Order: sequence, then structure tokens, then C-alpha cells
Amino acid sequence: MKNILKNLGPNIAIIGTQWGDEGKGKLVDAISQNFDIICRSTGGANAGHTIVTDGKKFIFHLLPSGLLHEKTIGVIGNGTVVNISDVVEEIEALEKLGLEIIPRVKLSLKAHLLFDYHKKIDAELERRKGSKKLGTTHRGIGPAYEDKIARIGIRVEDLLDKELLKEKIKNNCDFHSETLGIECNADEEFENIIKFQEKIKPILYDTQKFLNDSIAQNKKILFEGAQAHHLDIDHGTYPFVTSSSVCAGGIATGLGIAPKKISGIIGIAKAYTTRVGEGPFPSELDNERGENIRKIGVEYGATTGRPRRCGWFDAVVVKNAVEQNGIDTINLTKLDVLTGQTEIKIATKYMLNHKEIFTVPTTRKANEKLNIEYEACPGWTEDISKVRKFEDLPVNAQNYIKKIEQLIGIPVEVIGVGMDREDLIFR
Ligand code: GDP
Ligand code: IMO
Ligand code: MG
Repeated sequence: MKNILKNLGPNIAIIGTQWGDEGKGKLVDAISQNFDIICRSTGGANAGHTIVTDGKKFIFHLLPSGLLHEKTIGVIGNGTVVNISDVVEEIEALEKLGLEIIPRVKLSLKAHLLFDYHKKIDAELERRKGSKKLGTTHRGIGPAYEDKIARIGIRVEDLLDKELLKEKIKNNCDFHSETLGIECNADEEFENIIKFQEKIKPILYDTQKFLNDSIAQNKKILFEGAQAHHLDIDHGTYPFVTSSSVCAGGIATGLGIAPKKISGIIGIAKAYTTRVGEGPFPSELDNERGENIRKIGVEYGATTGRPRRCGWFDAVVVKNAVEQNGIDTINLTKLDVLTGQTEIKIATKYMLNHKEIFTVPTTRKANEKLNIEYEACPGWTEDISKVRKFEDLPVNAQNYIKKIEQLIGIPVEVIGVGMDREDLIFR
């Protein structure tokens, strides 16, 4: 087993440190063979986790990315919001590849169901916000969590009682069409979900009990983060965030396990920064260089296909995530994308009204006044995609990584140098 995994103990979490799409799925897939169970604790199909193996590409939305390994079990926890037909579609796509999925997936009875009307509400709320829209994925995530918090949500367990399910759908459809004027056909929503009842029944589980029993039996568990620290409902750049607790704290509530059972945390950070959707982004390169990085890094959303905004690595952003999640070590991804840049900058410090501040400001005014200090590092031109040892990287690439370590205060122990599962340097 890789040293990094030994040092972090049996139950390891993977957390995005920036604004998502850092390459979480790739690391999950690359280390999954060392774990018995891979869990998703929050979010829904707004996530898009890409895995490339032998040139073949797979995108996971709600199923845990470790399922390509034949022995792993995937858990979708109580903290998630689940559109059943989307999950069935994902399961069937993997089954078509010859993988046995149903016996290996466990969906929490306490997870909340996400209906088509949530997607319609998502679109309607964005439309009403006009130029102030959030740029959501339109997957209905916010509205499904709104129902949950308002205590009118419909849970996976409700699938087991047809009459009650029908009644709850009708009530919520009436409520949402009255308050927002969206079109909602309760009978259609009911039929669309109940047709999957038999297919889905075998995966419905008391996942909290399953996970706690597994921990007691010393099984190894990997917690696959979705989204990222700066999209967290509390700690992100509110209101330009997603609607769940995607930081480390959300793992415990989103799965029903004790926080102390998480033995180690790996933070994922791109060697530069990207963001898809609206909201502040201090180190953004809204220029030709940003476009150049987007092109080389193929920076287009895995869920929506939208072009991702690109910018320099921001040490203030990543340090925040490190501190607030207790991240032990970093997987720096997509270092290869920076090959060929003559000079690479790192945002090192924020000054606002002549005072240093330590997080991304959330108001437009403060962001306009924000003074960002950068440090410039010399680039490299050598192809690094075949490099498998840190010492074999060009000296300037090594120095870039060392600078990042110095700024964020923890080691970078895994480095991504290409898309494929194998394109990783473990230090
Ligand atoms: P996630 O949501 O954090 O799992 O990340 P996404 O899958 O949305 O986006 C990351 C993209 O970068 C995917 O297309 C990956 O295949 C790709 N990727 C991940 N690591 C590397 C890397 O080290 N180098 C390159 N070139 N691509 C990478
Ligand atoms: P992964 O797991 C990048 C962003 C959306 C939008 C905001 C709110 O692949 O890293 P939502 O649909 O959640 O209400 O949208 O959050 N967003 C993501 N951005 N990667 C993701 O997931 C994201 N999930 C949500 O673009 O700005
Ligand atoms: Mg993604």
C-alpha cells in the first residue's frame, strides 16, 4: 500500500479545497482498491467526477467513483439528495460495461428524494434572479435541500409505502405550483419514480448501521467528497455555493458516523484554480492566459459542459480549506497543464483597506477593492506526463510545489501529471 495511505489510517476522506472539479474522482478511483467501502455523504448529481483508465472515460455523478473496482461497495448516505431515475441510469450505464452494480450499492433510507419539480424550481429561481443568478447545475439540488430543511422532504424510505408516497408527492406538487407557479404533474412524478421501485429495492439500506458495523469490523472506508470547501453552504463564498455541508464536518452528519472515525483527510487542489458558475474568484485570469489554460486543461464542466473560469493557484483559498477541514496532505492535480507557461503566479496574500484578510470576501464591493499579492515562479517546458518520481520533475516544477507547501503549511504527497489513473506521482 502507498505510504500516504498507511500514515492516514483506515478511514480516509477526500475533500476539494477550491471550487470543485479539482480531480477528486481520479484519486478516489486510483486508491479505491485499498478500501472496502466508498461513500458519498452529501450533494447529488450536481457532482461530476471523471475517471480515465486506459484511455476510456467514465463520469460519476451520484454513485461513488470507486465502483469500477469489482470488490468495492458504494454507499450513498443520508445527507445526499437523490433522483432515482438518474441513479438507475448511472447504474445501468455501468452494468452495460459488464460490471455488477446492484449488489454493491447501498442507498440510505434516510436520503432525500429529488423530483423533476425540484429541477423546474431550480431553473425558475435562477430565471427570477436574472443577472444575479448563481449559475447552478440545474439539477434541483437547492430546492431538494429546501424541502428537507422545511421538513416537507420526501425520503427514500417513503418509496416503500406507495399510498403515502403518492399523497406526499401530491402535497408538495400543490405547494410548489401554488407558491412558484411551476407546472407540476403529481401523477407523472409518482409514475416516474414508482416504476423503479423493484429495481431499486435491493439497494435500500440502513446505511448508518451498515457503516458503523463495518467500522467495528475494521473495514477500510473512503469518504468521497463532492463539490469543495469554497462551495460549502456555510464556509463557501455564500450565496454562490451549493446547498449542503460539503466540508469535512458534513461527512459525519451525512453518513451517521462519529467525526472521530475519520482517521485522515486528503485535500485535492488543482495546480491552478477553476470555478464553474458565478461568484467571486480573486485570482481569476479573465484574459487570453486564462483561455489558454482552459484549452490545455480541457476545462469544461463534467456535469453541464459549461466552460470553467480559470485562474492562478490561490494559496489563501487552499490554506483556508486546509485549516477548516483539518486536511493532512494534498494531492496537487493537473500540474502537466502548466507545462509551457514561462511564468506561473501564486496568489499569496489578500489586502482589503490596507489590512490583511484571510478568506475570500463575499460582497461584490469588497472583491472589487481587494488587493491580491502574487509571487511569480519560473515555469518549465519539459513534458512531465511520464514522470513518476518527484525528483525526476524539472527543478522549476519541484520548486513550484515546494513554494505551495510552504504557503499552505502541509505537504503535497500526490501529484497529478495526466488524466489517466496511472498518471500520478506518490512521494
Ligand atoms: P472532480 O469533480 O473533482 O472529480 O473533477 P472533474 O472530473 O470534474 O474534473 C477534473 C478533470 O481533470 C477531469 O477531466 C479529469 O480527467 C482531469 N484530471 C484529473 N487529474 C488530472 C491531471 O493530473 N492531469 C490532467 N491533465 N487532467 C487531470
Ligand atoms: P464536483 O463534485 C464544480 C457549483 C455550480 C454553482 C454552485 C451551485 O464535480 O466538484 P448547485 O447545482 O449545486 O446548486 O450549484 O455550485 N457546483 C459545482 N462546481 N464542481 C461541482 O461538483 C459542483 N457542484 C456544484 O456550478 O456555481
Ligand atoms: Mg467535477
